[in-house]
Amino acid sequence: MAVERTLSIIKPDGVEKNIIGEVYSRFEKAGLKIIAARMMHLSQDQAEGFYAVHKERPFFADLVKFMTSGPVMVQVLEGENAISRNRELMGATNPAEAEPGTIRADFAKTIDANVVHGSDGEDTARSEIEFFFKNDDICPR
Ligand code: TYD
Repeated sequence: MAVERTLSIIKPDGVEKNIIGEVYSRFEKAGLKIIAARMMHLSQDQAEGFYAVHKERPFFADLVKFMTSGPVMVQVLEGENAISRNRELMGATNPAEAEPGTIRADFAKTIDANVVHGSDGEDTARSEIEFFFKNDDICPR
């Protein structure tokens, strides 16, 4: 098993629902450590840059609008198979298809406001962590 790092975001709807602690608790119970964290309100440029891979998709403008609609909580998670572990905890992109007991099944109502983001692979994890954090901001232990 590989110790990995992944980038997680509690999106504006999750922050608004006041479930940061609930989501953090799920990470910790699953053996993932929070080794960096920052709360911020994404600018239009930041949201567009972060989701640049989706810029040709029909939902892009709404996604950017949603991601800039309020503060987000951004964290780096570390642990064994952290990337897939976090994706399992999140559940499917569309909450209607998410396994019971996952974050999206429990807290999200629609695909466009689905509470959490998690990197989907090693390369995206590396670039998404760099997007938000300098090396000095990360506190492995
Ligand atoms: P995606 O990277 O496909 O999903 P995930 O967040 O599970 O990695 O899509 C990024 C976000 O874009 C997704 O969390 C919500 C939004 N989105 C829509 O609003 N409509 C859609 O049809 C899709 C596929 C995504």
